[in-house]
Amino acid sequence: PVVAVLMGGPSAEREVSLTSGRECAAALRDEGFEVVEVDAGRDLPMRLADLKPNVVFNALHGRWGEDGCVQGILEWMGLPYTHSGVLASALAMDKERSKQVYRAAGLPVVPSQLATKAEVEARHVMAPPYVVKPYNEGSSVGVYIVQEAANSPPHLSEDMPDIVMVEEYVPGREMTVTVMGDRALTVTDIYSEGWYDYHAKYSTGGSRHVVPADLPQDIFDACLDYALRAHQALGCRGFSRTDFRWDEARGLEGLYLLETNTQPGMTPTSLSPEQAQAVGLSFGALCRWLVEDASC
Ligand code: DAL
Ligand code: MG
Repeated sequence: PVVAVLMGGPSAEREVSLTSGRECAAALRDEGFEVVEVDAGRDLPMRLADLKPNVVFNALHGRWGEDGCVQGILEWMGLPYTHSGVLASALAMDKERSKQVYRAAGLPVVPSQLATKAEVEARHVMAPPYVVKPYNEGSSVGVYIVQEAANSPPHLSEDMPDIVMVEEYVPGREMTVTVMGDRALTVTDIYSEGWYDYHAKYSTGGSRHVVPADLPQDIFDACLDYALRAHQALGCRGFSRTDFRWDEARGLEGLYLLETNTQPGMTPTSLSPEQAQAVGLSFGALCRWLVEDASC
């Protein structure tokens, strides 16, 4: 069958997606699929109408590719595609509405509020330390940490959306769990110098991953349980990755779910392929599984 790998696109995570897409395309060719690589521009529906692929492999990240927009086009065209559908993608990408779903499912989330850019720049919206982030981007694009000692509120860049999320800062460790089908794979502990930011995520050696994470059993099990429940509460399909923060001093009470990524990174430094590897699944086998799981 012909697989069209969608990558790039116009989001802030374009470069990450190009890397994910090329890796997946190469792996699928090694698995014996006929692969066409498609940089997803405005002409995507026309390109797909010409190509008539049997399956669309979605390797896009961020707006348009991870928020239900592309998924809607593919539904409309009747093309089977990988990863989550329209509703789960749109919900997961919206950090406020996904929190409402998590809360309703009894999952622990970090207290936060929405504010306008002007409000955030005028005064501390909550007591520092806190985090300011766009409510609809990934890869830590546009995330500000306001330190405890900060006298003045942050000055936000031009390209931040008008509405932002202001969230209490949870000190401690950062973990992540990939869900594949109905199974939470394992837990990774992420260590980086300072914040696990864009640089730490995508530079070789930018962060250190320990998989399986060295954690107390109750915390390890809670991460697996919360990730699977988050995946199911949002209605995700196939493959997702849920991120956590854990304030060790507070035990299980200090464990919070940050967000679920419906299009986890597939780059050489990404977490989900590493977790698949840790449970005995090669990158090629993972990509094949995604193609075989595709539907619309
Ligand atoms: N948003 C990036 C690609 C991730 O979550 O892996
Ligand atoms: Mg994300």
